[in-house]
Amino acid sequence: MSRSVADELVASIDDRSARGIAAAVNRAVTSGALAVGQRLPTVRELARALGVSPTTVSEAWQTLAAVGAVEGRGRLGTFVAQPTGPGAPTRYRRVTEGPGHFALDLSTGTPDPALLPDLGLAVGRLGERSLTSSYLDPAVLPALETELRSTWPFDPAALTVVDGAMDALDRIAQQVVHLGDRVVVEQPTFPPLLDLLDHLGAEIIGVPMDGQGMEPDAFAAALRRQPVAVFCQLRAHNPTGITTTAGRARRLAGALRDHGTLVIEDDHSGDIATGALVSLGRWLPERTLHVRSYSKSHGPDLRLAAIGGAAATVQAVANRRMLGAGWTSRILQAVLLTMLADPAAVTAVAHARDVYAERRRRVCAVLHRRGVAVTGDDGINLWIRVDDERAAMLTLAAQGIGVAPGEPFLVGESADDFVRVTVAQIPDTQLDDVAGLLADAATTAPTWR
Ligand SMILES: Cc1ncc(COP(=O)(O)O)c(C=O)c1O
Repeated sequence: MSRSVADELVASIDDRSARGIAAAVNRAVTSGALAVGQRLPTVRELARALGVSPTTVSEAWQTLAAVGAVEGRGRLGTFVAQPTGPGAPTRYRRVTEGPGHFALDLSTGTPDPALLPDLGLAVGRLGERSLTSSYLDPAVLPALETELRSTWPFDPAALTVVDGAMDALDRIAQQVVHLGDRVVVEQPTFPPLLDLLDHLGAEIIGVPMDGQGMEPDAFAAALRRQPVAVFCQLRAHNPTGITTTAGRARRLAGALRDHGTLVIEDDHSGDIATGALVSLGRWLPERTLHVRSYSKSHGPDLRLAAIGGAAATVQAVANRRMLGAGWTSRILQAVLLTMLADPAAVTAVAHARDVYAERRRRVCAVLHRRGVAVTGDDGINLWIRVDDERAAMLTLAAQGIGVAPGEPFLVGESADDFVRVTVAQIPDTQLDDVAGLLADAATTAPTWR
């Protein structure tokens, strides 16, 4: 049977690169020409039939496995997979679907609701005009655009507003990342971004970080593999808490000069970050897309973020959106604009930033004293090295504390285990005790050892 499948595939493949083969097989799977459960030809068989090297077919199979189109079953071969539903955010699910309810859940990555500015006041101040926007009005409230441009880290050729940073990453990735493309990310990084890139069939290259940002040599090596895009978080990096220094940003921009790679910066923490806002857009404005979210500073349920920079991509995102929702509610945009201009809301955000910094500082002080490795000094998340991920999570769960496993944040294998801990909502009275329990958990050996 596999012989005829091979023949049919050969007839449908005109581009014999790994990417072309993967795309043709993917088309056959989605059209139903290849049925769920059907065995695919072996790598050697198809390579011979196509007159390409087995490595090329094997690369295509890996790409297809990454998007869930096929699955390897060891010696039995490679089979067309059962569709898992669009997206199937496997890493993200592992972070959000913990073992249960905790007295203190530090796995969430979310801000402290008590520290958000008063939304009710801002909503109350909305004028009636905000409520009668027409389909023909500009997608971004002109006054909000002026405000955003005045605080943007470089002069953006185009700017638009979308429904949060993750929506921005999703829309940008759909425009620039295609099946088989290489994409650079920080190692570790935000699990939904990895799920998204997997979903699009990208080959993900993780670049390790030191205390100043992505390591320059590893970054240069990654660029030599000709990625289409770099997705990075230059401050309050989630999960490591590292803020990229201005000097490192300049070096990374220098390395990018000889490549056509697009830069997508996710400033997910916005004004609750303590580090200075750096952007590669300062050096590469025509190739940088800077994303600023207001979720952490003004509230996740506002679902507001702005994208500014490289005009062609911003325009492509806005154009594509005209075939869907069209724009982000201008009512919400007006609420944000009101809060950005309101001294009380500005003070509330500054206060939240100080409180988060102090919570982080106090937990880190205990961890450092106990010899536990923790990186970075910005934002609400801690990336803690532990002897054993599972043992650490179980030890904390027994104390009613939930933390996120480190593994979903990692690209490929890692020699070390980690957990990610969000300090934003630890009550001030419990900081030292919780930090002590985190230190205990970090050094808990698995029971079977
Ligand atoms: C790195 C990173 N990017 C994006 C997001 C999502 O942000 P938003 O709520 O604006 O979609 C988060 C949320 O925690 C994040 O940590």
